Amino acid sequence: MTGRWLAGIDAGGTLIKIAAEGVGGRILRCFPAGDEEQCGRWIRTHLKDARLCFTGGSAIRLKDKLGLVRSPVVPEFEASARGVRALLRSRHPSVPGRFILTNCGTGTSIHRVAPSGQKRLGGTGVGGGTLLGLAKLMTGESDFKTLMELAAQGHRDQADLTVAHIYEGARPPIPGDLTASNFGRVLENSRRISNADKVAAVIGMVAETITSLTLFAARNEGLRTAVFIGSIFADNPVMKNTVHRYCSLCSLESLIPENGRFSGAVGAYLMLREKSSL
Ligand SMILES: Nc1ncnc2c1ncn2[C@@H]1O[C@H](COP(=O)(O)OP(=O)(O)OP(=O)(O)O)[C@@H](O)[C@H]1O
Ligand SMILES: [Mg+2]
Repeated sequence: MTGRWLAGIDAGGTLIKIAAEGVGGRILRCFPAGDEEQCGRWIRTHLKDARLCFTGGSAIRLKDKLGLVRSPVVPEFEASARGVRALLRSRHPSVPGRFILTNCGTGTSIHRVAPSGQKRLGGTGVGGGTLLGLAKLMTGESDFKTLMELAAQGHRDQADLTVAHIYEGARPPIPGDLTASNFGRVLENSRRISNADKVAAVIGMVAETITSLTLFAARNEGLRTAVFIGSIFADNPVMKNTVHRYCSLCSLESLIPENGRFSGAVGAYLMLREKSSL
C-alpha cells in the first residue's frame, strides 16, 4: 500500500467502521467497539502508510488509545452526509439533491441533507442498541447474526396488534395490516410467542419507530425521499422490508444503500482528501 491511500475511521458507540481507498481499490472493515486492540493491530498492518481521518462519538478516545494523536477528526454528521452521497452515486444515481437521512446506529439521528450540507432535525433513543438490548432481555441471545437468523423464522404478528385485529372484520379507516400496537397482542397470546417471534417483533418496533419519525421529518421538510443507513440494516431483511413497506404505504421513496453503515468512514476520508487539496 502506498502513501496515497486514505482511510476514514468511524468510531461509533457499538462498532468501529473503517473505509480505505487507494490505487488498488477500496477496503471496508468493521470491528466491535470493545476490540480496540485488534482494530489497532489491523490498522498498523493494513493501513501502515495510509493517511487517516477519524469521526464518530468515540473518535478522540480511539485515536488517542491507538497513539494516532496527530490524525484529524471530522464531525460525524457532516462525514455521514458526505459519505452517503458518494455511496449513493454508484447504485442510485437518480437520487435527488435533497433528502432525509436516517442513521440508525446505536441510537437514531435524523437529518436533512442538501448539496450545501446537512442539518440535524432530531432523533430517538430507539435504534440498534434497543434491538440488541430488548432481544437479550427477551431471549438471552445477544449475538447480532444469531438474532437475525432467529428473526427470519419469526412471525411478529404473534406479538403485535394490527389495525385489522382491532377492527375485527369492519372496514378500518387506514390499511388493516398497519401495526396498531407493537407487542399489543402479548397478553392475549403470550403462550404462543417464540423467541423468533419476539426478535421479529422487536425489529418491527424499531423499524416502525424510526420510519414514523422519518415520515414526519420528510413531510415537514417537503421532501419525498429518505435514505436509511446504519449497521442495523446489514444482513437484516426483516428490518429493510419493514422500512420499505411502511415508506411505500405513505408514498415516501426509501433507499437503503448497500454498505450504508460505512457512510461516516467514507465521508471522513473524502473530507480529508478535500482538506488536503485546498
Ligand atoms: N456485528 C455486529 N455486532 C453488534 N451489533 C451489530 C452488528 N452488526 C449490526 N449490528 C447492529 O448495528 C447497531 C450499530 O450500528 P452502527 O454501527 O451504525 O452504530 P454506531 O456507529 O456504533 O453507533 P452510533 O452512531 O449511535 O454511535 C447495533 O446496535 C446492532 O443493532
Ligand atoms: Mg454511527
